[in-house]
Amino acid sequence: MKLLVLHGINLNMFGQRDPGHYGTATLADIDAALQALATELGAEVECFQSNHEGVMCERIHQAHRDGVRGVVINAGAWTHTSVAIRDALAILRCPIVEVHMSNVHAREPFRHHSYIADIARGQICGFGVDSYLLGLRAAASAAQADIKK
Ligand code: DQA
Repeated sequence: MKLLVLHGINLNMFGQRDPGHYGTATLADIDAALQALATELGAEVECFQSNHEGVMCERIHQAHRDGVRGVVINAGAWTHTSVAIRDALAILRCPIVEVHMSNVHAREPFRHHSYIADIARGQICGFGVDSYLLGLRAAASAAQADIKK
């Protein structure tokens, strides 16, 4: 089962960026933890990061062509701004899990709205790296359930 983890704009800077909100783990640390969990779950995971909205949209289109079974996405600031990322995700038929390292609802009001939340199966935020790991478990389990339908 193929799952895709998408990291949006500025998330390549995890580890060097606002440790009060995002901790000290780097994106490479997060991807390594996701790969370890994927092995445990018997899933195949690809992790992808871009700072370019169009490139991210094209990666999502490719996921549609590839028949990816589940997507975990931390869209970073695009969560709160991008109709384009939302529209690309809406093309997918597989479960989407929105994740954030920080609890966006406990932060500035502009972070409370997500363009992704209502087309996602669910949202996990506030647990640091565990948000991603919980998100991957949720995506794997939702994808399994969809396969059985
Ligand atoms: C974030 C939260 C967003 O509001 C912010 O723009 C980010 C990171 C998170 O993981 O907590 O870049 O998505």
